[in-house]
Amino acid sequence: MSVTILAIESSCDDTSIAIIQDAKLLSLGVSGQKIHEKYGGVVPELASRAHLQEIIPLLDSVLKEAKINKNDIDAVAFTVGPGLLGSLLVGVTFAKSFALANQIPLIEVNHMEGHILAHMIDDPKPDFPFLCLTVSGGHTEIVKVNAPNDMTILGKTLDDAAGEAFDKTGKMLSLPYPAGPVIDKLAKEGKPVYSFSKPSLKGYEFSFSGLKTGIRNFLSNNTKKNPSFVEENLNDICCSVQNTIVEILLDTLKRAAEDTGIHRLAIAGGVSANSHLRQQFEQLIESKGWKGYIPAFRYCTDNAAMIAITAHYKFMNKEFSHQGVKPQPRLKIH
Ligand code: KG4
Ligand code: ZN
Repeated sequence: MSVTILAIESSCDDTSIAIIQDAKLLSLGVSGQKIHEKYGGVVPELASRAHLQEIIPLLDSVLKEAKINKNDIDAVAFTVGPGLLGSLLVGVTFAKSFALANQIPLIEVNHMEGHILAHMIDDPKPDFPFLCLTVSGGHTEIVKVNAPNDMTILGKTLDDAAGEAFDKTGKMLSLPYPAGPVIDKLAKEGKPVYSFSKPSLKGYEFSFSGLKTGIRNFLSNNTKKNPSFVEENLNDICCSVQNTIVEILLDTLKRAAEDTGIHRLAIAGGVSANSHLRQQFEQLIESKGWKGYIPAFRYCTDNAAMIAITAHYKFMNKEFSHQGVKPQPRLKIH
């Protein structure tokens, strides 16, 4: 019997729908929301309104691309959390209605588990267990992935997430939101000439608030001396900050791999799109003779393909949800 799943992702500011058949992706649509750029961050109320506007046209185009009829869908999956309540609510309500109208089961998916299982969409797929550095706008974690439905967080951030470190630096440099991809691009033209102190933490924890303060002080000291300091040195500043963030992430991941003896490593989440992180990760893997897994760009940032593949595993385990399900903005990996 073939299994076809429709999946919806609406946790933040990207509306996305995917269709997967027998764990093979048939179509993926992502509709990003430009409206937040001028506010320097996601405005929750505007995000949920945009999801409402985009979700039906996106469904139509994804069904068309997959050449699938609504009646061929066996289950509908959705992101239940973590995320913005209003944004999640659009996806959850839409999925419930779709399930009810088509008399098919509902599958709820944890967004962060989705980011990790994005590695199971295309070959080569990691064998279990593997360690995943999960780095997004809201999360920074090292997760031990024992099986699709069995994950343990070995360490996480005590304050800001890696994506926030990029975005907040961007704000200080007057760059558009989200600043991660912009810093990535500018850093390519720069050199890591400035150094920022890195936290030394026990275990596999992360912290980025000290770096944020360090950058703020560095910028204010230098602009006092030269008001055009940022303008004149933007690429070098971006390159230096990016290098520091990537070093913090990979130092901890390396330690976790050495301590646990698990030498299959993966990166996931929006920040895993960062070119310096990808390159340094590859270098680490090569130098150690370990196995590394880097997701395709389209599976790094928020997308419904990762929700669909996670739902496929849940379908196989008959882990279904129900019409009373509510969004869980603060859901954790369990
Ligand atoms: O996973 P994601 O799309 O959404 C959340 O679940 O948060 O991650 C978004 C985050 C933002 O902070 C964004 O600046 C960052 O990922 N990001 C990047 C890059 N592309 C996206 N950070 C650094 N370099 C990139 N190329
Ligand atoms: Zn995400």
